Amino acid sequence: VHGVPPSLSAKVVGSFAYLTVKDRLPTILTKVIDTIHRNKNKFFEEFGEEGVQAEKKAISLLSKLRNELQTDKPVLVLSDGLEDADSWNQYLQRQQSLQGDQDSVSWFKSPWLYVECYMYRRVMEALWLNPPISDFDVFNEGKTQSFFESQQAVVALCTYLEGLRKNMAELSENQLCEQFNKLLQVSLWGNKCDLSISAGQENSQKGSPLDSLANLRPFILVDDSSLVWSTLVSAQRPGDSGKTTSARVDIVLDNAGFELVTDLVLADFLVSSGLAREVCFHGKSMPWFVSDVTAKDFQWTIRQTMAANHKFMSKSGVQWQTYMRDGVWSYHDHPFWTQPHEFCDMAADAPELYATLQGADLVLFKGDLNYRKLTGDRDWDHTVGFDVALRGFGPAPLCSLRTLKANVQVGLQPGQGEKLSSQEPDWMTSGKYAVVQFYSPHSE
Ligand code: F6P
Ligand code: MG
Repeated sequence: VHGVPPSLSAKVVGSFAYLTVKDRLPTILTKVIDTIHRNKNKFFEEFGEEGVQAEKKAISLLSKLRNELQTDKPVLVLSDGLEDADSWNQYLQRQQSLQGDQDSVSWFKSPWLYVECYMYRRVMEALWLNPPISDFDVFNEGKTQSFFESQQAVVALCTYLEGLRKNMAELSENQLCEQFNKLLQVSLWGNKCDLSISAGQENSQKGSPLDSLANLRPFILVDDSSLVWSTLVSAQRPGDSGKTTSARVDIVLDNAGFELVTDLVLADFLVSSGLAREVCFHGKSMPWFVSDVTAKDFQWTIRQTMAANHKFMSKSGVQWQTYMRDGVWSYHDHPFWTQPHEFCDMAADAPELYATLQGADLVLFKGDLNYRKLTGDRDWDHTVGFDVALRGFGPAPLCSLRTLKANVQVGLQPGQGEKLSSQEPDWMTSGKYAVVQFYSPHSE
């Protein structure tokens, strides 16, 4: 029986959590402030003097936030009237009682996962309290830029996909499995391209992602892709009308830009190969961790792909729009995804969402933040099983597709973590390594 280790926290001086709260988060806030300021003229054109006042007030709230963070002030109750405010305040109380009464919940003393989520929620508040600019997405520019800068790679992927779609019927089961593995890995490495790790730099994919897969293979530390494949295959059963039905796959999205395209390509392949009958995408209901997908980003990406000046790219976009229109694909958001909870809390704190995921045959969790939430962002021993770290979370067979950007990693072989630590001290945070890590509640 394993005890539950403590949450990662900036209170461990020198840890990655500490460096993040000390340096990376203030940098992100400074960029947010710059972005709002740079858009001053736009706000003036749209809303006149009121827009300019809103810009000023939002900036002053954000500077205050940055100051609270840097001086380790207590985490404040939310009173902005947004519908999730109550649950944030309850969560704060929960943290307070976990921590005991001696110290208040604060930026450098409390769990990193919590304070980092809270920062993005406060950015939302600063805009929300200034109505004419309340739906301005401060991260939008970076997300669209990442998409445009990856154009070549997107074209390469869409062209590959088109070739596959044409020949799908001729593929043997082995060939199908091989193609599945390729596109799963493309989606995995797509997670390298996020904006929050680099505080806004290096967020696009330049060359063809398919060409680099073989070279990247040694950097996948855990590869459970064969279990993912067999989950999909075993979900195929004879349906009522004699036609076979197949899996419903849910994808809990991470970043917009190139990563989202890799997810859409994988989803397209799943449907057009018949491996899945339905794909449900889950995104964020507010701008989150710099580059995460919101409903707007999702629609924008499909529209841009449709409108592209390249035959196969626009063809893919049209196909995706059709999947959406026909309900083969669907997009969902839920407030839980932008709350600070570990996923083991989902069944109790967001039972409707948990029930929704239970309807899936397979849930893919993209990216680092989802991995942190799956494992509770705790100081686990590297050899602890993924099933143990999930602490009872398991609405359906699930798989994390994650490049490592935070210092939590479970499910390694004995000695594997130590070896990596001795060779490359930053192996858990450089984004160079990845995992395809699977768990099924049915195999217990
Ligand atoms: O610290 C790195 C970080 O900013 C983490 O806060 C977060 O886990 C990650 O980057 C975001 O990465 P991803 O987009 O893969 O979730
Ligand atoms: Mg992200």
